[in-house]
Amino acid sequence: MGNRAIWEQASAKHVREYDELLEAARGDGLLEEREHELLAPVLAAGPFVVHLQSGHGLDDVGLVKAGARRVVGVDYSSTAAGAAQRRARDVDVDCRYVVAEVPGVPVKDAAADLVYTGKGALIWMRDIDAWARDVARVLRPGGHLFVYEGHPAVPLWTWDEDEARIRPDRSYFAKTHVNDTFPGNGAQEWQWTLGQIVTAITTAGLHLQVLEEYAEPFWRPQDGTNAAAWSGRLPNSYALLARKPL
Ligand SMILES: C[S@@+](CC[C@H](N)C(=O)[O-])C[C@H]1O[C@@H](n2cnc3c(N)ncnc32)[C@H](O)[C@@H]1O
Repeated sequence: MGNRAIWEQASAKHVREYDELLEAARGDGLLEEREHELLAPVLAAGPFVVHLQSGHGLDDVGLVKAGARRVVGVDYSSTAAGAAQRRARDVDVDCRYVVAEVPGVPVKDAAADLVYTGKGALIWMRDIDAWARDVARVLRPGGHLFVYEGHPAVPLWTWDEDEARIRPDRSYFAKTHVNDTFPGNGAQEWQWTLGQIVTAITTAGLHLQVLEEYAEPFWRPQDGTNAAAWSGRLPNSYALLARKPL
């Protein structure tokens, strides 16, 4: 099965768990603390946001609650986009969802004040340079790109609880690996190093403003699993803010 079909299947979770996600959308804490801090000046201006690979769309509700004027979510899963659209209507936020493949975002050139993405997005990009060019195209001059992502070193860490170990079947410099956890189990993930991501973004013409690495993962499972790799000594996530020059 190809990645898109795997995501269509995995996104059925957003429909099965619709009520729990709706309750979450009505609450707080939809964006991470660092997202609020780094995005505060951008969101204060009431931006038009394009969210690439919008998934369940809870981030979009969080963005609107934090100041965004409007969000367009782009995702190639019609199941994910449909559930996100229904939820946005239920919580009465101005979010619209478009089913489309990234790159190839169906948004006009220079339309977005902010392109927001992450939490398991870039690993599905087959061509990081084409992605960065598409981001730069839809941003208006002076607009921002914000990425909050799993750190590219994460595929290396085991989930052992006694001690952090490096998986013998993985390399930081590999091009791809097959995902073996939900969601996306069985799909082919692309591995982009931090250097490749930053180079793609700056080559596309954006200026890097912030690049921070964090020990904390944003995907702690609710079953209490607590991998030693998440204890504070290893990188698990990062945030990046870049701006298209005026
Ligand atoms: C792990 S989710 C992350 C999204 C969101 N931040 C969230 O937390 O739900 C990844 C999403 O990317 C979408 N996706 C993967 N590859 C894509 C592509 N090439 N174009 C558009 N959407 C894609 C999937 O359908 C899925 O909804």
